Amino acid sequence: MIITPESDPVGATVSDVDLRVLSDVDVARLASAWAEHGVLFFRDQHLTPDDHITFAERFSDIDVNQFFQALDTHPEIAVVLKEPDQTVNIGGAWHTDHSYDEIPARGSILLAREVPDEGGDTRFASVAAAYDALSDGLKATLETLEAHHSNVHIFGADALAARAVGGRLGNPEGVGTSVHPVVIQHPVTGRKLLYVNPGFTTHFEGWTPEESAALLGYLYDHVRNGGFATQFSWAPGSIAMWDNRSTWHWALNDYAGHRRMMHRITISGERLSPASRRVA
Ligand code: SIN
Repeated sequence: MIITPESDPVGATVSDVDLRVLSDVDVARLASAWAEHGVLFFRDQHLTPDDHITFAERFSDIDVNQFFQALDTHPEIAVVLKEPDQTVNIGGAWHTDHSYDEIPARGSILLAREVPDEGGDTRFASVAAAYDALSDGLKATLETLEAHHSNVHIFGADALAARAVGGRLGNPEGVGTSVHPVVIQHPVTGRKLLYVNPGFTTHFEGWTPEESAALLGYLYDHVRNGGFATQFSWAPGSIAMWDNRSTWHWALNDYAGHRRMMHRITISGERLSPASRRVA
């Protein structure tokens, strides 16, 4: 198994590996590389849905998505699908999966089943590198803040963006808000991470959304434009496995009239440090 870091500050490609036959040593190497690089890319993997689940469970329990359409035969697998006549895609803006949960998911493992000939790439950004590049003064201020993360505007029954999901919108089991520290610590690497994202963060604790917008906007521009991202082009059998604490991702929606179908498994994380709380 060969692990080759990207030239960007996020991501590594893993080659000479068949994810159906991993030793415990292989899994330990992958877990360590995943924490270090934020996202791992694999090519030409021939995983059945059962193989996909078995691979995911080598790392943690599965955190079943409360909203997405799932495979009929495998409820653990969410179907990330855009049909040729749809205009909205799932994940079509920078975000971090499940940041609205009190214990956010550790990561996601996305497997390409059907992709357009052109377009449909996914971008990934490192919020570890982005945090490191801030001034000491701003870092110190951010460490005193908490932020609200909500999915009501995305997955609530009235949410417009929910058209893309085709699943169980407004599912009361999952709609809600949690408060997380703005700076968290990665449980494996110990690196500090900027834990806000444009998809789900609504405002800082104790600030109004209007007061929060300017600082959040500054931080989002910093992550988006600071040179902390990489871009992955898919083919059937490609896999990206990303860490939801240390990265953002964005599924580009530039393949109008074509079908793209992916299978996603999200795996469970541990309580964030410093700790978070559910508020609604
Ligand atoms: C997602 O946000 O999980 C979807 C990413 C993608 O389809 O590339």
